[in-house]
Amino acid sequence: MKHFISANDVPDVPTLINKALEYKANPWKDETLGKHKRIGCLFLNPSMRTRLSTQVAAQQLGMETVIFNVGNEGWAMEFEDGAIMNGTSVEHVKDAAPIMGNYFDILAIRTFPSLKNRDEDYSEFVINQFIKYAGIPVLSLESATLHPLQSFTDLITITESMKEQGIENRKPKVVLTWAPHVKALPQCVSNSFAQWVNKWGAADFVITHPEGYELDEQFTNGATITHNQDEALKDADFIYVKNWSSYEEYGQVKCTDTSWMLTNEKLKGTNNAKVMHCLPVRRNIELSDEILDGPNSLVTREASNRVWAAQAVISELLTS
Ligand code: CP
Repeated sequence: MKHFISANDVPDVPTLINKALEYKANPWKDETLGKHKRIGCLFLNPSMRTRLSTQVAAQQLGMETVIFNVGNEGWAMEFEDGAIMNGTSVEHVKDAAPIMGNYFDILAIRTFPSLKNRDEDYSEFVINQFIKYAGIPVLSLESATLHPLQSFTDLITITESMKEQGIENRKPKVVLTWAPHVKALPQCVSNSFAQWVNKWGAADFVITHPEGYELDEQFTNGATITHNQDEALKDADFIYVKNWSSYEEYGQVKCTDTSWMLTNEKLKGTNNAKVMHCLPVRRNIELSDEILDGPNSLVTREASNRVWAAQAVISELLTS
């Protein structure tokens, strides 16, 4: 694995899931793999889980981690090749990235989309500029359109839960449902979840959302898509809850219908479905207290599993 930007970088998803679960069973088994190596983690946007789990994972592989909150503490960065830098940006990625490539062995980056320019966001311009100029493996900590470490964690969590429920020998029904929110959010987590579930190929996969929230087909192809949430939830084994803004009318909020929020009442038609969310979550807007604090919620375990996902991926980048 040269870089980790999307599911397309992973030759075999079940093999990588098993690797992560082996780290969960034995966190220190490769504690010298990253000895005398450094991972630089650049945050152009805020994070809690991704930052901490990546740091813990790297430590368990014997690596040193350097965190740089570029968004708050670094020079304002320019990404456009050929830019005349007479505005607010101070440092070009062409100058900064090769230096980071000399300081570190892996460069991990979190960026977000503008939600204004769809073509630019969907070209993954920012993270690709780092890949172009850093000269070392680049690990996405969430980019403009995808959140691969989150989605990989989600599949680890589903696999683990299926084994515990004794349903590992059949295809689970996995439903991605849109949920309300107070602001326009990126499509990253939902795009990425769809991409990974489709690549995994081991689930009956349904996506449900209000009209106007169709995701990019390059990620959803293979899923059943419906605007009827009740129909989608019927017999579900896993429900992945997430808000996203419109892809078609890029970055717009098209629906504020609070009835899309998942409740215990909606769980009644499911196969006692486990409920997932990447966090952070707006309680009682995006997901109800009764679900988040109830027995069907996997959200804390899901976030905890971020460590094993990061450890498996960093291990692959170190050894490839
Ligand atoms: N799910 C997730 O990526 O959380 P953070 O934004 O806190 O890293």
